[in-house]
Amino acid sequence: MSATNVIRKCLFPAAGYGTRFLPATKAMPKEMLPIVNKPLIQYGVEEALEAGITQIGFITGRGKRAIADHFDNNYELEHQIKGTSKEKYLDDIRNVMDACDFVFMRQRKMLGLGHAILTGEPMIGNEPFAVILADDLCAVPTDSNELRALGQLAALYKRYQCSIIAIEQVPMEDIESYGVIAGEEIADGIYQVTDMVEKPKPEDAPTNLAVIGRYILTPEIFHYLRNTPPGRNGEVQITDALKLLAQDRQVLAVKFKGRRFDCGSVEGFVEATNYYFEHHYKSAK
Ligand code: G1P
Repeated sequence: MSATNVIRKCLFPAAGYGTRFLPATKAMPKEMLPIVNKPLIQYGVEEALEAGITQIGFITGRGKRAIADHFDNNYELEHQIKGTSKEKYLDDIRNVMDACDFVFMRQRKMLGLGHAILTGEPMIGNEPFAVILADDLCAVPTDSNELRALGQLAALYKRYQCSIIAIEQVPMEDIESYGVIAGEEIADGIYQVTDMVEKPKPEDAPTNLAVIGRYILTPEIFHYLRNTPPGRNGEVQITDALKLLAQDRQVLAVKFKGRRFDCGSVEGFVEATNYYFEHHYKSAK
Protein backbone atom coordinates (compact mmCIF):
# COMPACT_ATOMS: atom_id res chain seq x y z
CA MET A 1 0.00 0.00 0.00
CA SER A 2 1.91 3.05 -1.18
CA ALA A 3 -0.63 5.55 -2.51
CA THR A 4 -2.37 6.35 0.74
CA ASN A 5 -2.87 9.72 2.28
CA VAL A 6 -3.57 8.25 5.69
CA ILE A 7 -0.71 7.76 8.12
CA ARG A 8 -1.21 4.42 9.91
CA LYS A 9 2.14 3.73 11.51
CA CYS A 10 4.41 5.55 13.91
CA LEU A 11 7.95 4.73 15.01
CA PHE A 12 9.22 5.60 18.46
CA PRO A 13 13.01 5.55 18.60
CA ALA A 14 13.66 4.62 22.23
CA ALA A 15 17.12 3.11 22.40
CA GLY A 16 19.01 6.06 23.98
CA TYR A 17 20.55 5.92 27.44
CA GLY A 18 19.15 9.10 29.00
CA THR A 19 22.48 9.92 30.64
CA ARG A 20 21.24 13.37 31.66
CA PHE A 21 18.86 11.69 34.10
CA LEU A 22 21.32 9.33 35.77
CA PRO A 23 21.03 7.73 38.22
CA ALA A 24 17.25 7.57 37.59
CA THR A 25 17.86 5.97 34.19
CA LYS A 26 20.43 3.42 35.34
CA ALA A 27 17.94 0.54 35.49
CA MET A 28 14.87 2.25 34.00
CA PRO A 29 14.34 3.43 30.41
CA LYS A 30 14.26 7.23 30.16
CA GLU A 31 11.02 6.91 28.18
CA MET A 32 9.36 5.56 31.34
CA LEU A 33 10.14 8.67 33.41
CA PRO A 34 6.76 10.02 34.50
CA ILE A 35 5.43 13.50 33.88
CA VAL A 36 3.18 13.58 36.96
CA ASN A 37 1.64 10.09 36.77
CA LYS A 38 2.15 9.02 33.16
CA PRO A 39 5.36 7.86 31.45
CA LEU A 40 6.70 10.13 28.71
CA ILE A 41 6.30 7.44 26.07
CA GLN A 42 2.58 7.09 26.81
CA TYR A 43 2.03 10.78 26.08
CA GLY A 44 3.70 10.16 22.74
CA VAL A 45 1.56 7.12 21.92
CA GLU A 46 -1.59 9.04 22.88
CA GLU A 47 -0.54 11.82 20.51
CA ALA A 48 -0.08 9.28 17.71
CA LEU A 49 -3.51 7.78 18.42
CA GLU A 50 -5.05 11.26 18.36
CA ALA A 51 -3.50 11.64 14.89
CA GLY A 52 -5.38 8.48 13.80
CA ILE A 53 -2.38 6.15 14.05
CA THR A 54 -2.83 2.70 15.60
CA GLN A 55 0.29 0.76 14.55
CA ILE A 56 3.01 1.64 16.98
CA GLY A 57 6.62 0.55 16.47
CA PHE A 58 9.18 0.92 19.24
CA ILE A 59 12.85 0.88 18.34
CA THR A 60 14.37 -0.23 21.60
CA GLY A 61 17.67 -1.53 22.86
CA ARG A 62 19.02 -3.33 25.87
CA GLY A 63 17.38 -2.49 29.19
CA LYS A 64 14.09 -1.29 27.70
CA ARG A 65 11.75 -4.15 28.59
CA ALA A 66 9.70 -1.97 30.93
CA ILE A 67 8.27 -0.25 27.83
CA ALA A 68 6.87 -3.57 26.53
CA ASP A 69 5.46 -4.39 29.97
CA HIS A 70 3.80 -0.98 30.18
CA PHE A 71 1.78 -1.60 27.03
CA ASP A 72 0.73 -5.11 28.12
CA ASN A 73 -1.70 -6.46 30.69
CA ASN A 74 -0.65 -6.79 34.33
CA TYR A 75 -3.18 -9.38 35.45
CA GLU A 76 -2.17 -9.47 39.10
CA LEU A 77 -2.44 -5.71 39.53
CA GLU A 78 -5.65 -5.52 37.51
CA HIS A 79 -7.19 -8.33 39.53
CA GLN A 80 -6.23 -6.59 42.80
CA ILE A 81 -7.85 -3.25 41.96
CA LYS A 82 -10.83 -4.55 39.96
CA GLY A 83 -14.04 -2.91 41.12
CA THR A 84 -12.24 -0.37 43.35
CA SER A 85 -12.01 3.38 42.89
CA LYS A 86 -8.39 2.91 41.79
CA GLU A 87 -9.35 1.23 38.56
CA LYS A 88 -9.92 4.60 36.88
CA TYR A 89 -6.17 5.25 36.98
CA LEU A 90 -5.80 2.61 34.29
CA ASP A 91 -8.38 4.17 31.94
CA ASP A 92 -5.91 6.02 29.71
CA ILE A 93 -3.48 3.14 29.27
CA ARG A 94 -6.35 0.72 28.62
CA ASN A 95 -7.69 3.03 25.89
CA VAL A 96 -4.32 3.06 24.19
CA MET A 97 -3.88 -0.71 24.55
CA ASP A 98 -7.34 -1.43 23.13
CA ALA A 99 -6.82 0.85 20.14
CA CYS A 100 -3.23 0.10 19.13
CA ASP A 101 -1.00 -2.72 17.98
CA PHE A 102 2.58 -2.68 19.24
CA VAL A 103 5.69 -3.90 17.50
CA PHE A 104 9.11 -3.99 19.16
CA MET A 105 12.33 -3.85 17.19
CA ARG A 106 15.84 -3.79 18.61
CA GLN A 107 18.56 -1.44 17.49
CA ARG A 108 21.58 -3.50 18.38
CA LYS A 109 24.18 -0.77 17.88
CA MET A 110 23.76 2.87 18.79
CA LEU A 111 24.46 4.28 15.35
CA GLY A 112 22.18 7.32 15.53
CA LEU A 113 18.58 8.43 15.04
CA GLY A 114 18.73 7.85 11.28
CA HIS A 115 19.89 4.29 11.85
CA ALA A 116 17.13 3.76 14.46
CA ILE A 117 14.52 4.83 11.90
CA LEU A 118 16.07 2.51 9.30
CA THR A 119 15.72 -0.33 11.83
CA GLY A 120 11.95 0.21 11.60
CA GLU A 121 11.80 -0.33 7.82
CA PRO A 122 10.51 -3.95 7.97
CA MET A 123 7.48 -2.78 9.93
CA ILE A 124 6.83 0.29 7.77
CA GLY A 125 7.27 -1.20 4.29
CA ASN A 126 6.32 1.11 1.45
CA GLU A 127 4.00 3.68 2.99
CA PRO A 128 4.29 7.10 4.64
CA PHE A 129 4.80 6.96 8.38
CA ALA A 130 5.31 9.10 11.44
CA VAL A 131 8.17 9.36 13.93
CA ILE A 132 7.78 10.67 17.46
CA LEU A 133 10.72 11.44 19.73
CA ALA A 134 9.03 11.07 23.10
CA ASP A 135 11.58 13.40 24.77
CA ASP A 136 9.82 16.26 23.05
CA LEU A 137 6.48 16.50 24.82
CA CYS A 138 3.90 18.44 22.82
CA ALA A 139 0.83 19.91 24.46
CA VAL A 140 -2.15 22.04 23.50
CA PRO A 141 -4.38 23.86 26.02
CA THR A 142 -7.12 21.59 27.40
CA ASP A 143 -9.84 23.94 26.09
CA SER A 144 -8.38 24.01 22.57
CA ASN A 145 -9.86 22.18 19.55
CA GLU A 146 -6.40 21.91 18.05
CA LEU A 147 -4.76 18.48 17.75
CA ARG A 148 -1.28 18.08 19.17
CA ALA A 149 1.71 18.47 16.86
CA LEU A 150 1.57 15.10 15.07
CA GLY A 151 -2.14 15.45 14.31
CA GLN A 152 -1.40 18.84 12.74
CA LEU A 153 1.32 17.30 10.55
CA ALA A 154 -0.92 14.37 9.56
CA ALA A 155 -3.65 16.80 8.45
CA LEU A 156 -1.12 18.67 6.32
CA TYR A 157 0.12 15.40 4.86
CA LYS A 158 -3.35 14.80 3.37
CA ARG A 159 -2.92 18.01 1.43
CA TYR A 160 0.77 17.99 0.49
CA GLN A 161 1.62 14.24 0.35
CA CYS A 162 5.29 14.76 1.12
CA SER A 163 7.65 14.48 4.08
CA ILE A 164 6.76 17.06 6.73
CA ILE A 165 8.68 17.94 9.88
CA ALA A 166 7.77 20.05 12.88
CA ILE A 167 9.85 23.14 13.64
CA GLU A 168 9.97 25.80 16.31
CA GLN A 169 11.88 29.05 16.62
CA VAL A 170 14.48 28.73 19.38
CA PRO A 171 17.00 31.23 20.77
CA MET A 172 20.23 31.20 18.74
CA GLU A 173 22.27 30.26 21.81
CA ASP A 174 20.32 26.97 22.01
CA ILE A 175 20.54 26.11 18.31
CA GLU A 176 23.44 23.71 18.79
CA SER A 177 21.04 21.17 20.37
CA TYR A 178 18.90 20.83 17.25
CA GLY A 179 18.60 20.01 13.61
CA VAL A 180 18.06 23.31 11.79
CA ILE A 181 16.30 24.08 8.53
CA ALA A 182 16.55 26.75 5.88
CA GLY A 183 13.63 27.24 3.54
CA GLU A 184 11.17 29.41 1.75
CA GLU A 185 7.88 30.21 3.47
CA ILE A 186 5.20 29.03 1.03
CA ALA A 187 2.21 29.53 3.35
CA ASP A 188 1.74 30.88 6.85
CA GLY A 189 4.25 28.96 9.01
CA ILE A 190 4.92 26.37 6.28
CA TYR A 191 8.42 26.26 4.75
CA GLN A 192 9.70 24.41 1.73
CA VAL A 193 12.99 23.03 3.01
CA THR A 194 16.10 23.95 1.00
CA ASP A 195 18.79 23.02 3.52
CA MET A 196 19.22 21.25 6.85
CA VAL A 197 22.10 21.06 9.32
CA GLU A 198 22.37 18.86 12.40
CA LYS A 199 23.39 20.73 15.56
CA PRO A 200 25.31 23.64 14.00
CA LYS A 201 27.28 26.23 15.94
CA PRO A 202 25.23 29.45 16.14
CA GLU A 203 27.54 31.12 13.59
CA ASP A 204 26.93 28.27 11.11
CA ALA A 205 23.15 28.00 11.61
CA PRO A 206 21.19 29.12 8.53
CA THR A 207 18.17 30.13 10.69
CA ASN A 208 16.87 29.65 14.20
CA LEU A 209 14.15 27.25 13.00
CA ALA A 210 14.81 24.09 14.99
CA VAL A 211 13.52 20.61 14.18
CA ILE A 212 11.26 19.20 16.91
CA GLY A 213 10.78 15.46 17.36
CA ARG A 214 7.74 15.00 15.11
CA TYR A 215 8.20 13.80 11.55
CA ILE A 216 6.05 12.45 8.75
CA LEU A 217 8.27 10.66 6.29
CA THR A 218 7.61 9.17 2.89
CA PRO A 219 9.13 5.71 2.40
CA GLU A 220 11.84 6.97 0.01
CA ILE A 221 13.60 8.15 3.17
CA PHE A 222 14.89 4.61 3.70
CA HIS A 223 16.82 4.76 0.44
CA TYR A 224 18.37 8.07 1.51
CA LEU A 225 19.14 6.76 4.99
CA ARG A 226 20.99 3.80 3.53
CA ASN A 227 23.13 6.22 1.56
CA THR A 228 23.72 8.75 4.34
CA PRO A 229 27.25 8.59 5.77
CA PRO A 230 27.71 9.08 9.51
CA GLY A 231 27.50 12.79 10.35
CA ARG A 232 27.44 14.72 13.63
CA ASN A 233 28.87 12.60 16.50
CA GLY A 234 29.71 9.87 13.97
CA GLU A 235 26.03 8.88 13.84
CA VAL A 236 23.64 8.44 10.91
CA GLN A 237 21.43 11.51 11.18
CA ILE A 238 17.84 11.73 9.93
CA THR A 239 18.56 15.45 9.36
CA ASP A 240 21.25 14.58 6.77
CA ALA A 241 18.98 12.09 4.98
CA LEU A 242 16.16 14.65 4.88
CA LYS A 243 18.51 17.23 3.42
CA LEU A 244 19.29 14.82 0.57
CA LEU A 245 15.60 14.00 0.12
CA ALA A 246 14.80 17.73 -0.02
CA GLN A 247 17.16 18.11 -2.97
CA ASP A 248 15.06 15.64 -4.99
CA ARG A 249 11.53 16.02 -3.60
CA GLN A 250 9.39 18.41 -1.64
CA VAL A 251 10.05 18.41 2.11
CA LEU A 252 8.04 20.79 4.27
CA ALA A 253 8.71 22.17 7.73
CA VAL A 254 5.80 23.45 9.80
CA LYS A 255 5.59 25.71 12.81
CA PHE A 256 3.09 23.68 14.82
CA LYS A 257 0.62 25.17 17.28
CA GLY A 258 0.90 24.50 20.99
CA ARG A 259 3.75 24.11 23.45
CA ARG A 260 6.74 21.83 23.39
CA PHE A 261 8.74 20.75 26.41
CA ASP A 262 12.26 19.43 26.00
CA CYS A 263 11.97 16.54 28.45
CA GLY A 264 15.43 15.37 27.45
CA SER A 265 16.72 18.15 29.71
CA VAL A 266 16.11 18.37 33.43
CA GLU A 267 14.80 21.97 33.12
CA GLY A 268 12.30 21.04 30.40
CA PHE A 269 11.24 17.97 32.34
CA VAL A 270 10.47 20.03 35.44
CA GLU A 271 8.61 22.64 33.36
CA ALA A 272 6.50 19.89 31.76
CA THR A 273 5.77 18.38 35.16
CA ASN A 274 4.53 21.71 36.52
CA TYR A 275 2.49 22.37 33.39
CA TYR A 276 0.78 18.96 33.42
CA PHE A 277 0.15 19.15 37.14
CA GLU A 278 -1.57 22.54 36.75
CA HIS A 279 -3.39 22.06 33.47
CA HIS A 280 -4.22 18.36 33.27
CA TYR A 281 -3.80 16.50 36.53
CA LYS A 282 -5.50 18.97 38.88
CA SER A 283 -8.43 19.65 36.55
CA ALA A 284 -9.03 15.92 35.99
CA LYS A 285 -9.21 15.16 39.74
C1 G1P B 1 17.24 14.85 17.65
C2 G1P B 1 17.53 15.22 16.21
C3 G1P B 1 17.55 16.74 16.03
C4 G1P B 1 16.25 17.32 16.55
C5 G1P B 1 16.01 16.89 18.00
C6 G1P B 1 14.64 17.34 18.48
O1 G1P B 1 18.35 15.23 18.45
O2 G1P B 1 18.77 14.67 15.82
O3 G1P B 1 17.70 17.07 14.67
O4 G1P B 1 16.29 18.73 16.47
O5 G1P B 1 16.06 15.46 18.13
O6 G1P B 1 14.46 17.04 19.83
P1 G1P B 1 18.56 14.71 19.96
O7 G1P B 1 17.76 15.64 20.82
O8 G1P B 1 18.07 13.31 20.00
O9 G1P B 1 20.03 14.84 20.21
